[in-house]
Amino acid sequence: MNNVLRLAIVDPDDKARELFKNMLLGMERVWLEAECSRYEFFSDVVAQTEPDIVIVAVDKDQEKALRLVEQINHTSPECNILVTCSSSDGNLILQAMRAGAKEFLQHPVELNDLVQAIERISERPALRGEAKTRGCSVIAVAGSTGGVGSTSVAVNLGCSLAAHEKNSVVLVDLDLCLGDADVCLDAIPDFTLLDVAQNTTRMDIMLLKRSLTKHSSGLFLLPRPVQLDDIDDITLDDLSRLVGLLRATFTHIILDLSKSFGALDRLALNLADHVLLVTQLDLPCLRNVVRLMMSFKEMDGLTDKVKVIVNRTGVDKSQISFKKAQETIGREIYWQVPNDFRTMAEVRNNGVPLLEQAPKAAITHSIKQLAESLDAADPEESAELVAGKSSGIGRWFSFGK
Ligand SMILES: Nc1ncnc2c1ncn2[C@@H]1O[C@H](COP(=O)(O)OP(=O)(O)OP(=O)(O)O)[C@@H](O)[C@H]1O
Ligand SMILES: [Mg+2]
Repeated sequence: MNNVLRLAIVDPDDKARELFKNMLLGMERVWLEAECSRYEFFSDVVAQTEPDIVIVAVDKDQEKALRLVEQINHTSPECNILVTCSSSDGNLILQAMRAGAKEFLQHPVELNDLVQAIERISERPALRGEAKTRGCSVIAVAGSTGGVGSTSVAVNLGCSLAAHEKNSVVLVDLDLCLGDADVCLDAIPDFTLLDVAQNTTRMDIMLLKRSLTKHSSGLFLLPRPVQLDDIDDITLDDLSRLVGLLRATFTHIILDLSKSFGALDRLALNLADHVLLVTQLDLPCLRNVVRLMMSFKEMDGLTDKVKVIVNRTGVDKSQISFKKAQETIGREIYWQVPNDFRTMAEVRNNGVPLLEQAPKAAITHSIKQLAESLDAADPEESAELVAGKSSGIGRWFSFGK
């Protein structure tokens, strides 16, 4: 689970603000919640958006800007204030600190200094605790062969998670050629992954949410591109940035991977907190699990994130036993989803999720329980984050990874 820091910035100098914005856009765990060009409006912006960090550039009018710092410190005491100024005058720094600034950076701000200042702020107890920063769990769903049931798991897991009020969930269809998550939800989206991925630098939270399709279950959907020609236009940076933005908005991001295990799929595996590897209890599927797990070993930290999900258990008597399957793949099976051909055929033909079509069916229950189990697995990870296990400057950047 990863935490995102929400920022707001005020700088009457448009050019300087733009430069700052570009710097912030490259940071995966930083979400620019609001920007403002007038000191007098900014405390209202902060009160409305409640960012974790505000950046006040004081050059234009030091007196006004420092009064603003004082005001924000008074009205939004939980907010961490970072002041920037082209002067390094000790007296000004002292005034800024007395007004309530936590950090002072000299303009023009160096990227490294900014990262370190944000790191220091994020280490403060108020931000390290779960109460302040919102966590997001990224769940990649991959399959050991075509038609194994990964989209069915991804869609219905998404709906089960979205059924909880505390959750906001988005499903991103990364099966760029043949993905059918939209069909499973009978959705006709206005925008696709291509539109959103290519506009992440210009998006704010509201626009991002408006670009996604919301299903009646509460699940947001970002479908695959319409045209095959568009597939190559989605770059690794686009996906990285998109997941960074979605992290700031949602509690759960589900990525339905293609079976090609191409570069975007592998990036998705890297970005994920949990990788659900869906398989069935037959030899070709289990053999692929073994092969995939061998390749996953080459990717840093991936093996530990993998949870093997056996789909369609009990489909026929010739299925390989659980014990034998676990011996073959050399690891535990995390979850089993029972076979239910009739219900799944109805679900697919009607374009509705299991929760709606068959709320009492064993298969629905199984996926609901899977959602709960994954949710229960997350607090430990956030505890690790609190302990500083995942900190480090490199972790702040999404590019060049
Ligand atoms: N537990 C289940 N019981 C019965 N049928 C199932 C079950 N899970 C999935 N199916 C059916 O199996 C078929 C394939 O499912 P799905 O499209 O989810 O697989 P997939 O791995 O995403 O396929 P693809 O490789 O095309 O992406 C569908 O017809 C679906 O209804
Ligand atoms: Mg699929």
